[in-house]
Amino acid sequence: MESMGGLKRTHDCYSITEEAIDQEVTLMGWVLRRRDHGGLIFVDLRDRKGITQVVFAPEVNAKSHEKAHRLRSEYVIAVRGRVRRRPEGMENPKLKTGMIEVVCHELRILNTAVTPPFPLDEDADVSEGLRLKYRYIDLRRPVMVENITLRHRVCQAIRQFLNRHDFLEIETPILTRSTPEGARDYLVPSRVNPGRFYALPQSPQLYKQILMVSGLERYYQIARCFRDEDLRADRQPEFTQLDMEMSFVEESDIIALVEGLIKEVFASALGITLEPPFRRFTFSEAMERFGTDRPDTRFDMELVDVTDIARRCGLKVFNTVAASGGVVKAVNAKEMGDLSRKDLDDLTVFAQSFGAKGLAWVKIKADNAWQSPIAKFFSDEEQHAIAQRLEAAAGDVLFFGADQRATVLRVLGELRCELARRRGLIPEGRFNFVWITDFPLMEYNEDEGRFTSMHHPFTAPLDEDMDLIETDPGAVRSRAYDLVLNGIEIGGGSIRIHQPTVQKRVFKALSISDKESRDKFGFLLEALSHGAPPHGGIAFGLDRLVMIMAGRESIRDVIAFPKTQKAQCLMANAPSRVSMAQLAELYLRPDWKEKA
Ligand code: AMO
Ligand code: AMP
Repeated sequence: MESMGGLKRTHDCYSITEEAIDQEVTLMGWVLRRRDHGGLIFVDLRDRKGITQVVFAPEVNAKSHEKAHRLRSEYVIAVRGRVRRRPEGMENPKLKTGMIEVVCHELRILNTAVTPPFPLDEDADVSEGLRLKYRYIDLRRPVMVENITLRHRVCQAIRQFLNRHDFLEIETPILTRSTPEGARDYLVPSRVNPGRFYALPQSPQLYKQILMVSGLERYYQIARCFRDEDLRADRQPEFTQLDMEMSFVEESDIIALVEGLIKEVFASALGITLEPPFRRFTFSEAMERFGTDRPDTRFDMELVDVTDIARRCGLKVFNTVAASGGVVKAVNAKEMGDLSRKDLDDLTVFAQSFGAKGLAWVKIKADNAWQSPIAKFFSDEEQHAIAQRLEAAAGDVLFFGADQRATVLRVLGELRCELARRRGLIPEGRFNFVWITDFPLMEYNEDEGRFTSMHHPFTAPLDEDMDLIETDPGAVRSRAYDLVLNGIEIGGGSIRIHQPTVQKRVFKALSISDKESRDKFGFLLEALSHGAPPHGGIAFGLDRLVMIMAGRESIRDVIAFPKTQKAQCLMANAPSRVSMAQLAELYLRPDWKEKA
């Protein structure tokens, strides 16, 4: 093995173009592949930026040529050589450096490498387990370098924008106490305080509000958050938020600032021009029209209410549902008349997996006649009324859900997305942002037998609903807002309660006792009594935002070292067992039962 021995890199493997022809350059990087061609050896040299072809010829430098025979994939080398135009017919238009090659005068092998666990040079089908175990190899793949670089550019754009708007970047503690965001806490035992535990923050929520009480007025942080919850493609146990808080603001101020921020981030990180203001739906509007508070507006197929018609038709399930306070809604699957009987059966099973009792369907035929097992239960006039409301035309398929409102919304909301996926109705490269506002402040939790916060307990009620806190808590709307991108919730925030009296009333409605609230959030309540300004904020799931910008399906692809569905780091092998001595030091007793 050799050292760099004073050799200095002059170029990267991306930016050498025809302008550098005849110049001497020094490159350093990894061997992507080596090809031997009758005397000549070709090496594709890769660094973070790109790939450059290096040629070893015996007549140029016999020693280097001889050494080049030893090169294997992922060896680390330094190459000094002269840039020349590739011979005619040998150009590679797919590569930025495809017009040139570097003729090697001096080769240094800086390190060898064992055979990589998977190939790096193509979109090989590699299991995610293997990618995560050898994450350092995985991160060498150009697509991963791009994702990580995009993430960096997004963070830089965020910082530039917020710095310019007079925000202060402030760090808040990681060893802290529970901040309620609806997940389980990660706990850390304290050695010097036997029997006591820190909680890792689920978000910096309490601290950022306290910073507003402190008069710091505009705060942001690219903050790590920890939530012990069931993981999915867009959830990690530790993830990153862009967390913000501002004083003396209302919803419209925060929404306008965020729209400016998002616009700048897309322009500077992707070169894409967005045109705010973004569409806005109230929570109930989104639920009625899309069946979800995370509507994907890249395609239509909105939910349409037909309860009034269903009430008087001859189909018993529809009559019963309508008579007992349920709803009947339908979606028009435009031009999907070619769905087969099997497709329709599959979709019924799909609907049932979300709690539907059935999935009635109607195919609209050429003469507008209904082809459907339920056609006979509808008079001509009823068929016509439904078709008109759904703007149905020949070739369309109508799907009906009849049940309690929540079930119908869930089922048809999911069905709408499933149909769009199956039929390829979701356009690529589209970024559809929508704001959702006027969430209910709390919802009744059957399991716990009490109301729980829809966002968190510090969210302010709408002024005009303030009187309902005690009398009809479920009807109180909040000053919370979510930002949804392509059907994924990327951010959420609210105007906060800044008066201790209101905060106490909300705690009470949430059945949080005086003792419990003093215990858990006493410091916040006290801080609010020391002259808290009106304030509000928002937090974005940075991983989710970058995932969508990068066109990926999982946030694991935009996190350098993510965890698996079982919250493990396969590379570092965390979590791991610890010694008895370490446990003893923390006053913990290892008397757990090992699961079979
Ligand atoms: P919230 O809990 O809605 O709000 O979180 C804000 C955003 O963080 C992202 N997010 C996650 N991303 C990856 N993995 C997870 N496990 C995960 N959980 C949440 C989502 C979400 O929109 N303190 C409040 C914000 C505020 O009120 O200002 C909060 O944390 O994109
Ligand atoms: P049935 O009368 O049970 O044979 O149902 C007639 C059609 O209505 C079938 O296509 C069922 O899938 C559908 N169906 C049954 N219950 C419901 C429901 N609650 N919502 C929507 N469709 C239903």
